[in-house]
Amino acid sequence: MAVVTIASSGLMPTPEESRAFCAQLESGDILYFPETPVPLAAQDAGFLLGQQQADSSLHKNIAYKPNIDRLSGVDTKTADPAAVARLQQILRSYSTSVVQFLARFLSPYQQHWKLDYASFRPQEEQNRDLPLRRRNDLLHTDAFPTRPTYGARILRFFNNINPTRTRDWIVSDPFAATVRQFAPHQIAPHPGSALSRAGKTAGRALGLGGAIPSLKRSPYDDFMMRFHNFLKENPRFQSDCPKYPFQFPPGSSWMVYTDTVPHAVLAGQYALEQTFLVRPEAMVRPEISPLKVLEEIAHAPLV
Ligand code: SIN
Ligand code: FE
Repeated sequence: MAVVTIASSGLMPTPEESRAFCAQLESGDILYFPETPVPLAAQDAGFLLGQQQADSSLHKNIAYKPNIDRLSGVDTKTADPAAVARLQQILRSYSTSVVQFLARFLSPYQQHWKLDYASFRPQEEQNRDLPLRRRNDLLHTDAFPTRPTYGARILRFFNNINPTRTRDWIVSDPFAATVRQFAPHQIAPHPGSALSRAGKTAGRALGLGGAIPSLKRSPYDDFMMRFHNFLKENPRFQSDCPKYPFQFPPGSSWMVYTDTVPHAVLAGQYALEQTFLVRPEAMVRPEISPLKVLEEIAHAPLV
């Protein structure tokens, strides 16, 4: 696992270089841009930073859904409509800029992703008081409880827009190493069972019991959700796994496959983020994708 630094002179890669960046991401590296390729206008950054003291209704978990051009996490009944409109416009423009940049920078993925949510993260991460499974200061891989991916990969692009403070992460070794080393037998897909039975039955085979919601999740999604919880709830993993700290400076960007690189944010305030769900067929190294790794363990298709 490595951090690959990309200088501003490297933002227009050749198709071969672009493919090599995809391969690095897929093997668990973080691509780091000391100077963000998607800078915010100074007035927009100023507006977002100003949300600190504003009505709390404007600074919870603020998500922007690009496909329907909607904000969530903002109480539109109490928030100032002009401020909400401005926030929406800033996130819309951020989302568009990230998409335009990555369409070029990661050209093998272009048209093979589903654009997921963007978010504004205005809260201080240090000492946040959250229920265990929602804590982001514990190492975890990402999985969405309500948005199954069916094998698509979760790629996240971040901006630290804090003018003075770093955003402090710890990461660990990627999925293929972690899953074999730490997942206990009962969490791994059982050979044969996931394929031969669908829905609830597959959920039971994966140890999810009756807790599986009737959401149309694949056995793959069940496992990834369960693995997220397992890592957060596992003190041995939290204390013994290899840990690599990174402090992302003000004005920087970085991206990483958060579904396979265990990560935690320990401190920092004010970040922007855009998520992409990259489809399995776009992988340049499909053999190390979590879908293939798990299917190898299960000896069965999982989506
Ligand atoms: C996370 O995905 O766990 C949080 C990352 C961050 O907000 O820096
Ligand atoms: Fe996460």
